[in-house]
Amino acid sequence: MRSLRISVTDRCNLRCQYCMPEPEYIWLPRENILTFEEIAALTDGFTDEGVTRIRITGGEPLLRRDLPVLVASLASRSAIEDLALTTNGVLLKAYASALRRAGLHRITISLDTLKRERFRALTGSSDFDAVLAGIHAAVDAGFTGLKLDSVVIRGTNEDELIDLLELGRTVNAEVRFIEYMDVGGATRWSPAAVVPRAEILETIGRHYGGVIPLDERSSAPAERFLLPDGTTFGIIASTTAPFCATCDRARLTADGIWLLCLYASAGTDLRRPLRAGVTRQELRQLIHAVWALRADRGAEERLGMDRQTTLVPLRALKKDAHLEMHTRGG
Ligand code: GTP
Ligand code: 5AD
Ligand code: SF4
Repeated sequence: MRSLRISVTDRCNLRCQYCMPEPEYIWLPRENILTFEEIAALTDGFTDEGVTRIRITGGEPLLRRDLPVLVASLASRSAIEDLALTTNGVLLKAYASALRRAGLHRITISLDTLKRERFRALTGSSDFDAVLAGIHAAVDAGFTGLKLDSVVIRGTNEDELIDLLELGRTVNAEVRFIEYMDVGGATRWSPAAVVPRAEILETIGRHYGGVIPLDERSSAPAERFLLPDGTTFGIIASTTAPFCATCDRARLTADGIWLLCLYASAGTDLRRPLRAGVTRQELRQLIHAVWALRADRGAEERLGMDRQTTLVPLRALKKDAHLEMHTRGG
């Protein structure tokens, strides 16, 4: 276990078709949402057990009030070598400098299309220009190592791979194309909608005259590639080529449930022991014991299942908010 993704809210200001297509959801009860002090205390338990990389996610994390305060608290912890944020970018313009001052290292922005009308159809929102402004604000605030994440969906945006790469080049961000995954919340998923890694590479290679794989396979989900002009990009092939064997990540929901896998159907409640006054040492022991038994490989198992039906039916999602992608941190 080296990496921890912390969801700070289950709410989102977009309604991306591949993640949370419905207008309303069962939200986590307010009193269960961890305070910043509680998040920091749990983070200490995880770093004591070897985590060095933290990513703050949501829902949309910038909807959480005073997020830079949490960032500053985490940034002050010497065990954390890498502190990153995944955001949809809508509110980034307002927060970029404050996040930078608070000590955030890196930002990844989700962006699936450069067409305003398509953005509206895909996200249910007219905030496209705000996202572009957010990307530029992150550059202006001095962030380097920006990434742009695009979920590629057949019949939706697979014709924009080159345009997205070109935008990445102009803002000095690395673009990553993500295979559409069947995870909780992706109720519109179908095998036909997945654009596989091989096809993404083919399209890009044809346009640029070749794609060179960078030989650096690590625990990061993205495989990286180089174009003849020096541009790099990534592909996250969770659907057709799962990377469970090298997975080193844990995830914490906004209400303190610790999930061992993006596809896990249940997790360990850390909020309860925390609020019951567990010591840092006891917390560490609990985390150690649970992780030692981990055998999850959700994406690999999904690959071996029936491809026609979605993994989590709408009925089940309506009963348990923790099954939703937006609750488990994308
Ligand atoms: P860095 O490499 O540190 O920048 O982060 P990352 O590559 O982990 O990127 P990020 O956390 O933003 O994840 C990018 C995308 O990869 C997510 O939005 C998911 O689509 C997918 N992904 C992230 N974590 C997992 C995981 O644990 N399992 C699977 N199967 N897919 C994941
Ligand atoms: N398939 C692939 N990636 C997804 N994300 C959310 N839902 C899915 C899905 N069904 C990821 C996207 C988005 C991030 C917040 O979560 O990468 O950018
Ligand atoms: Fe890790 Fe589960 Fe994702 Fe596989 S599916 S990479 S085990 S989180």
